Amino acid sequence: MDISWVNVVLDWMAVVFILVVGFSFLLIIVYYFIDRFQTEHAIRHNYPVIARFRYLFEYLGTFLRQYMFAADQDERPFNRAQRSWVYRAGKNLSTTEAFGSTRNIHAPGKILFTSCPFPLLEKDSVSSPPLVIGPNCKTPFKATSIFNISGMSYGALSKPAVLALSKGAKKAGCWMNTGEGGISPYHLEGGADLIAQIGTAKYGYRDKNGDLSNEKLREAAALDQVKMFEIKLSQGAKPGKGGMLPAAKITKEISEIRGIPMGESSLSPNRHADIGCNDDLLDMIVRIREVTGKPVGFKFVMGSPDWLESLCKRIHEVGLESAPDFITIDGAEGGTGSAPVALMDDVGISLNESLPYVIDILTKYGLRDQVRVIASGKLTNPTMVAWALAVGTDFITSARGFMFSLGCIQSMHCHKDTCPTGIATHNERLQSGLSPKKKSQRVMNYHRNLIHEVELIAHSCGVTEPRGLTRQHVRIVQNSSRSRPFSEIFPDETPIAFQGIPVETTEPNVSESK
Ligand SMILES: Cc1cc2nc3c(=O)[nH]c(=O)nc-3n(C[C@H](O)[C@H](O)[C@H](O)COP(=O)(O)O)c2cc1C
Repeated sequence: MDISWVNVVLDWMAVVFILVVGFSFLLIIVYYFIDRFQTEHAIRHNYPVIARFRYLFEYLGTFLRQYMFAADQDERPFNRAQRSWVYRAGKNLSTTEAFGSTRNIHAPGKILFTSCPFPLLEKDSVSSPPLVIGPNCKTPFKATSIFNISGMSYGALSKPAVLALSKGAKKAGCWMNTGEGGISPYHLEGGADLIAQIGTAKYGYRDKNGDLSNEKLREAAALDQVKMFEIKLSQGAKPGKGGMLPAAKITKEISEIRGIPMGESSLSPNRHADIGCNDDLLDMIVRIREVTGKPVGFKFVMGSPDWLESLCKRIHEVGLESAPDFITIDGAEGGTGSAPVALMDDVGISLNESLPYVIDILTKYGLRDQVRVIASGKLTNPTMVAWALAVGTDFITSARGFMFSLGCIQSMHCHKDTCPTGIATHNERLQSGLSPKKKSQRVMNYHRNLIHEVELIAHSCGVTEPRGLTRQHVRIVQNSSRSRPFSEIFPDETPIAFQGIPVETTEPNVSESK
């Protein structure tokens, strides 16, 4: 047998090897001189060539930590245990584990629920009943699910991601907030209930001058799928920050959906130009409600409880009909497609504090029955959802929980257009692996399994459904490792007499057990 071709291949491999080694050696020498004679980076000057690996390892560190070195409870914003729970729930895999808790149940801040000696029998449990938002509006909204999808715009999210969420929300029976980018065809295609968010640039609802257009509001309200309007004052991850949509990202489709011209960058102001005080806000709520006939509320992150007090006082002065139909409170721990680190890390207070304040202030001013509360901010797992319901919220929304259900791996690239899972990118190659049909099923599974486990917590505490949980059912571990009832830390508020007149309260129609 003629094997001369083997010798030829080996000769060529030897030549290639010598070339590669020679070229690498040459490159090292070139880099050595570049590094040695530059003064931009001291470390590269002092340790030529070798110092370059630092950048590579720094970049790879994000990925290596996640897969190899970080412990289950280590990472932020979400640790592996939290993410895995959502992945498993989304895939309908078992979320049970064996042997015992791997969490430190003595750690200060740990939430514990007060189990009941005689838990509720499964047969006595009920589903959380629907709750009406804006009962006095022309078209009130009967919201069926306690757990819903938080605002994320088409633009921050890709087309297949929005499609998967809207189809999944329809299957799950929950609502989806459009985010501040307006209503896209993909929000509508899934058929789910939508909350139309009005951001500071009024994308989707603006006239040629960028002002809020009654005509556009009417057009949106005419869609049966649009159930409520939410004025976005601020968002947990970036209070007081607008945004800039670069001209390059303004496609014909985006320009039509958002109502902005092509060819020039679009600026979202850091506040609604026409909402600069409490009266402006209340006027805007009344205007949108009158024009659309649908419930209107606002979303904000709390800086201090004083502002909400001042707003409630003003509502009483102006008239109760000026009150919002709902308030969405977003915690400082909330997520974003893009925001400066200083705002994400250091501005606004967390939901742990702000949610009880919102509930208590509304109760104090006798507005709790009229104004529904929606809470968001890392409420992605059963424990935190049950906690928020026990504190008193009516509804919960989650953004990143639902992103995980779509397959988000927390690569933190939402702002770079390089999201490897195709969720937060417009790169069609990266989007091609995200199947709206398959992922919508995961969205539905995640929603169903989460509600199921929140119900388990409720039943263990002896109540028939999740909204039956109260602050008495929650204990928080203190520095001493002993736990304290949440009802002692934030005692239930009682309505005050307002201007000498006792505030009238009616029995909440939240559920029979609350
Ligand atoms: C990719 C992304 C885009 C978002 N876009 C919006 C938005 O358009 N409007 C808004 O009010 N909040 C937006 N948010 C914030 C979420 O709606 C939510 O308030 C926050 O992330 C807290 O929920 P989570 O902890 O479950 O993510 C966005 C969040 C993410 C991660």
